[in-house]
Amino acid sequence: MKKHFLSLFIMLLLLFTHTACISKAPAGKNTLKSVAGKTPEELLASMTLAEKVGQMTQAERGDLYKGDITEYALGSVLSGGGSTPAQNTPEGWVTMFNGFTEESLKTRLGIPVVYGLDAVHGHNNALNATILPHNVGLGAIAAGNQERGAQAAYTAGRITAEEMRATGARWTFAPVLGVAEDVRWGRTYESYSENVGIVTLMGANVIKGLQDNGVAACMKHFLGEGQAKDGRNQGNALLDRAGIERIFPPYRAAIEAGALSLMPSFSSVNGVKMHESKDLLTDLLKNEMGFEGFIVSDWAALTQLSGGNYKAQIANAINAGVDMVMATNGRDSWVNFIEHLQELVNEGKVPITRIDDAVLRILRFKQRIGLFDAPLTKKAGAIGVDANRAAARTLVAESLVLLRNENNAIAKLPSYKRILVAGQGAHDIGMQCGGWTITWQGKHGFITKGTTVLEGIQNAAKGKASITYAESGKVEGTFDAVIAVIGEDPYAETEGDRSNQINIRTRDMNMLREVYDYNCPVIVIMLSGRPMTIGDEYKKWEAFIAAWLPGSEGGGIADVLFGSKDFTGRTPYTWRKTINGEVLFPFGYGLTK
Ligand code: BGC
Ligand code: BGC
Repeated sequence: MKKHFLSLFIMLLLLFTHTACISKAPAGKNTLKSVAGKTPEELLASMTLAEKVGQMTQAERGDLYKGDITEYALGSVLSGGGSTPAQNTPEGWVTMFNGFTEESLKTRLGIPVVYGLDAVHGHNNALNATILPHNVGLGAIAAGNQERGAQAAYTAGRITAEEMRATGARWTFAPVLGVAEDVRWGRTYESYSENVGIVTLMGANVIKGLQDNGVAACMKHFLGEGQAKDGRNQGNALLDRAGIERIFPPYRAAIEAGALSLMPSFSSVNGVKMHESKDLLTDLLKNEMGFEGFIVSDWAALTQLSGGNYKAQIANAINAGVDMVMATNGRDSWVNFIEHLQELVNEGKVPITRIDDAVLRILRFKQRIGLFDAPLTKKAGAIGVDANRAAARTLVAESLVLLRNENNAIAKLPSYKRILVAGQGAHDIGMQCGGWTITWQGKHGFITKGTTVLEGIQNAAKGKASITYAESGKVEGTFDAVIAVIGEDPYAETEGDRSNQINIRTRDMNMLREVYDYNCPVIVIMLSGRPMTIGDEYKKWEAFIAAWLPGSEGGGIADVLFGSKDFTGRTPYTWRKTINGEVLFPFGYGLTK
């Protein structure tokens, strides 16, 4: 009985602390203020050092006690990957955002807090949102046709923005403008292509699609993340001035497109961490290129800098040009940041002019995105709506790349009567979405609403062919063809780094061995964030399609296989037999039916 009471008490306590930061403060104590009509310059002129440093601070939603935003006059809050309100619905998000915003409107000056999150392929932390293909798939559209690619990027930005706004969100940490040059890098799928021109085109257009529709973009990560040695996430890139200029065009185009913010890379250039590279952040980006937005640091990135202690690391980052700090190593990391940065200013180690510049950039951003005039969201809207799902399905169809097609295998497919579909990937929403979906790393299974590859095929073949599904490939029967879906397990960031090959999973190899035994054409669809090292295995496949990480609308695959649409995507990455080995399919390769 005693134990029972204790657990009840703990449950209540958890409930209280969990909802504490999103519930409204008791009414009447402090009144909400408005900064509508004030200029950023006017506000800056009236701010204390503590208020300025508060604006430069970004805390994770989970690291806040109720009242913190008011007490510390915090400038920003974020969701890390998969960090969602308990009620993961548009209403739940709006309630949470408005709760944080109201806390900020009770500060002396009433400057609204801005909320940031990673909506990197649609509003991917929101349950049942439209999940778009990861950037690698959009890059395949552009590799096929630049104009179509530009349209696809704009559409992706627009859908993401619409669904974000439906939940009250206005700032996404996207797009990635890194150019992945070693597919062992775990973030290859976040990069549109190994081709700088494609990244430039896609980045600028996705930014327009986002910002035209009320969401601020954050180009990331600057600079050289895709050039790190051996494709190591957060590694070091050796780049001379020519090397820097070679990968700079996506950022230049993004600045021209009006990108409002930027995140430096965790990685280093020539041994210097990007977060403390004054040369590249201030001299090149802000001064030479004229970037007027603000720079937000990456997840607890300051703790990786030189200096030996947090205070010195803070000085390095701010003096290098970082304007807002994502201090996410628990609540202490942002509390200490505020304390240390004020000390640094008082000790003359960070000039107040640097602080003023940072704050002005942040305030201008807030004003530009409409936070000064309308900080609160009146009403939640709908996400995952039919029109957006239909548009996403078209993007999926356009992103497919046909890499092999022997004996007219694809053209014959619609005439077959008995088709076996095999493989875990055929019926797994989580696998087709990959990382950065509902959770940071992503995961297998029915994690959010969508249509699987199998369901798409079943719909397309209704009344025309019998579709059998056997995940393992093992089943009684005779078939005219097998559609085998293979691919990668979901991953994000460093978890996706591979030191050697990117091999076909054992589970998929076992399935393939089963289906080869039916002695009928095997058509392989690959769900992967990058070219996998398939060796000679592909020679056993009559047809081979790269579907990348298509997101929630798997029906787009059947639209091409069984419908009138043709393959228009081309590979945005070079496919090799093995890492650094023989080229199987060069950049830009792709067949039609
Ligand atoms: C967060 C991610 C973040 C990562 C960095 C995770 O716990 O959810 O958003 O990128 O940590 O290590
Ligand atoms: C990632 C960023 C992301 C941030 C917040 C970091 O680990 O590198 O891309 O925006 O987490 O989730």
